[in-house]
Amino acid sequence: MTNIFAAIASDSTESEVEQRVIVPLLRLLDYSDGDWRSQVSIGKLKADFQVRPQESDLLSPPFLIIEVKSAKRKISSSLWQIKRYLRKSSAVFGLLTNGYQFQLVYNYRNQVSTIGEYSQPELIAKFPSFYKFLCKATSLKLDRALYKSQQQTRLGFLNLVQKEFASTSLLPVVAEATISFPPQNHQNSKPMIITVFNNKGGVGKTTTTINLAAALTKLGKRVLLIDIDGQANLTTGLGIDPLTDVEELGKKDITHLLKDPRTKLEETIIKKSWEDIELSLVPSHIRLSNMETTLNSIMNVDRILELKLKNHGYDFVLIDPPPSFGKVNIISLMASSAMIIPTQLSAYPIRALEYALDRMADVQQFKDFRILGIAVSMYDQKSSSFNLSMYEKILALIEKKGLAGKVDVFPQNTWVPRLNIISKAQDKGYPIHEVEFDDTLTSPDKEAAARTIECYKKLANHLIKVTQGDV
Ligand SMILES: Nc1ncnc2c1ncn2[C@@H]1O[C@H](COP(=O)(O)OP(=O)(O)OP(=O)(O)O)[C@@H](O)[C@H]1O
Ligand SMILES: [Mg+2]
Repeated sequence: MTNIFAAIASDSTESEVEQRVIVPLLRLLDYSDGDWRSQVSIGKLKADFQVRPQESDLLSPPFLIIEVKSAKRKISSSLWQIKRYLRKSSAVFGLLTNGYQFQLVYNYRNQVSTIGEYSQPELIAKFPSFYKFLCKATSLKLDRALYKSQQQTRLGFLNLVQKEFASTSLLPVVAEATISFPPQNHQNSKPMIITVFNNKGGVGKTTTTINLAAALTKLGKRVLLIDIDGQANLTTGLGIDPLTDVEELGKKDITHLLKDPRTKLEETIIKKSWEDIELSLVPSHIRLSNMETTLNSIMNVDRILELKLKNHGYDFVLIDPPPSFGKVNIISLMASSAMIIPTQLSAYPIRALEYALDRMADVQQFKDFRILGIAVSMYDQKSSSFNLSMYEKILALIEKKGLAGKVDVFPQNTWVPRLNIISKAQDKGYPIHEVEFDDTLTSPDKEAAARTIECYKKLANHLIKVTQGDV
């Protein structure tokens, strides 16, 4: 921080103050180059910096506008300028500076008021507070909150309009307006039960299930997760301990649902909420691993889960089975109308795809069933030619199986790279979307998480299209 100020002198020009103080200051606040624009026209004037994170909603106003003067100019004479920029652009904060004095202003309903004026030493001393309110993470948090409340208000208003005018033409608009919220009316969406399947271990089934579910809920879909793996990774990955949070509290889990004909689906669902996401889960338990014999003695066991999932009321049910192929995998597939096959871009997981593809024909003997696509995760961002060769291997395999045109790899913008933060989030027991709310994590982790969220969002959007037959 002090270094920034050492780079200017009392005769520094406006552009020296911009490059030596403001750009480094923005970086200290975690903004990267794409998060700000310089010399932005506002009315007939040009603001020196307009800060608005790339991930913000397209329609949201700038978060911060910065007006810079040369070191020898008094800033008080330019206060009108920053006030005008804020009023015209509806930006939240404004900063006016000559590199020595810093005037911070705030815009509330076009009333721009001064928060304070700070010298260099005062700014250094107060920097933790500056950071707290002006950093990129805060900007994104505010943006998200504003977007949500605006959508809610608009939706409520539209419903009133619709009632008053008894207009059915507004219905599609209402459906669109609900995109970010659990829809009131689910009649339009076809419920889907999907097994996230690959008999190869460690290919990202559970991770894909958790983060895809979170992304689907962010798009307004109601999602139920079913952990049907004795390892209970999905359960613990959502921060739920199968012993202390389920068994010891007398709650029921997947084993009860499968073996006890009287146990209903609703009795086994646990709801888990974080800052931004709420998910419903049927938890698993280690004892499921030793239940093959018990399961085999149940009449019509292959269809037991299918039976329990009748009239479930969710838009998507995602089932996470164990690796290898046993009874619970058959139960999962028989309960589903489709599967997603996660894979890594490397030789063994790709070889295992063949087995997963073959399962489609098995299930199709009994019911309507399809493969929605192959989801790529944990790919190495630095090995593009290797990735391409692996991708071509998958396509060749699909071709060899006579499934070209019937099975596809999900588009490349849905592929999830190998990033530590994904594992970290799972270890901490929440979907990747919650990383931004965890103050113990660093900004690089948060930025990596934000990039990953985009991949899962695209995957969720693509999945919705595929299930609605739009692709
Ligand atoms: N994109 C990623 N980047 C980094 N690590 C990842 C990524 N996806 C998954 N992992 C990690 O890889 C490991 C295996 O992932 P995961 O548990 O999702 O696989 P799985 O197919 O469900 O495994 P299993 O077959 O044992 O059920 C986990 O530790 C997970 O955190
Ligand atoms: Mg798993």
